[in-house]
Amino acid sequence: MADPLRDRFVVLGVSGSIAAYKAVDLASRLVKAGARVDVVMTKAATQFVTPLCFQSITHRRVVDDLWDRNSEMAVEHVGLAKRAAAILVAPATADLLAKMALGFAEDALLTTLLDTRAPVVIAPAMEGDMWANPLTQEHVAKLRSLGMAFVEPEEGRLASGLSGRGRLADPEAILGTLRQVLGRGGDLAGRRVVVSAGGTQEPIDPVRLITNRSSGKMGYAIAEAARDRGAEVTLVTAPTALAPPHGVAVAPVDTARAMHRAVEGAARGADVLIMAAAVSDYRVANPAEQKIKKRGEAADGLTIELVPNPDILQEVTGDFVRVGFAAETEDLLANAGAKLRKKGLDLLVANDVSGAGSGFGSDTNRVILLGRGGEIEELPILPKRAVADAILDRVVAILAGRGRGAGGRRWVETHR
Ligand code: PMT
Repeated sequence: MADPLRDRFVVLGVSGSIAAYKAVDLASRLVKAGARVDVVMTKAATQFVTPLCFQSITHRRVVDDLWDRNSEMAVEHVGLAKRAAAILVAPATADLLAKMALGFAEDALLTTLLDTRAPVVIAPAMEGDMWANPLTQEHVAKLRSLGMAFVEPEEGRLASGLSGRGRLADPEAILGTLRQVLGRGGDLAGRRVVVSAGGTQEPIDPVRLITNRSSGKMGYAIAEAARDRGAEVTLVTAPTALAPPHGVAVAPVDTARAMHRAVEGAARGADVLIMAAAVSDYRVANPAEQKIKKRGEAADGLTIELVPNPDILQEVTGDFVRVGFAAETEDLLANAGAKLRKKGLDLLVANDVSGAGSGFGSDTNRVILLGRGGEIEELPILPKRAVADAILDRVVAILAGRGRGAGGRRWVETHR
């Protein structure tokens, strides 16, 4: 399943804040994601950024005047409101929020917002004291109670030179919320999905640890893809350098045992568990309380005793679809098949981690999907997000098969 923004009509409402310049970047990201973007500006917004600027990016006519006889609004008074799959208001000023909360319809943006049945995502930007003002907060509460989603402003330096909470949120947080809202009717709507990601860390002493090369990219891509398909997602993640995905409950952990506890808790009542994390099979038997000092000659060496960690996939019980990965450097299919059976999985993602552009750290991956009934699908090298969607396609089919009381459809496909 593709990005929920692809081929969707999105209205980007821009009101009169200096952060309007950041809406240009948002418009560009929306267009890159495949959305058809109609920008509607307030008069105040046009004081900061010209309509031509947005038009050059979206290649669509910008609406900034309710009374313009040539505009979309004049042809069909509220055409954009009806056509929009979602409306994103970014930046939303205190003035706009107040007018929205009171149902004003004095310009093209307010008219569109009042007339639409599409979901609305609002990203406010203003001075910190304006955001904190009880009147603004009352308007926000009212709009929330009507089902509008907010991406709250961030703390930081504001246009006035003062610091406070009022900066427009990060564009990825805004688009993450928009994707989540658009994905609500997706094929995982109403499902609870637990995903693990990253490489666990086992302490040797207070400054050293045993870990692996996992960046978390594969697991994070699965969490985002599941969110975009309407699932309620919990991401249990070992430390990574990645930003936590918006619209996903994140449970940070470090060791395999901490991941075990977190997955066990999150998987209770879940529909799907996908273990993309690279979990350390062993931990140090007795981590030192103080930094281990070099003793005698370095050549003397140091022996560290390791003991096995719990196998999370095998030990966490529940009636969920169980998906595991197998990171292999040799005998991929034989080793992966053995793991599928040993761990009682519904689906196994066999990951050849020896080739370039596949496995640890890369943005792409090459995998073979193995089903419990012997089904096999070999995928070409793909961006991790596309691999994530291919995995979720199979998960959706397995869930549907369970609903029908069958074991799901058989699939034998290769793509080279
Ligand atoms: O994070 P990236 O840089 O994007 O890299 C992605 C990845 C290579 C880490 C990912 O695609 C991947 O292959 N993850 C599984 C890595 C792994 O630990 O494989 P394994 O063959 O050792 O383990 C088999 C399965 O059992 C895995 O689903 C693993 O999460 C799970 N496991 C392993 C050990 C353990 N103690 N408990 C487990 O649940």
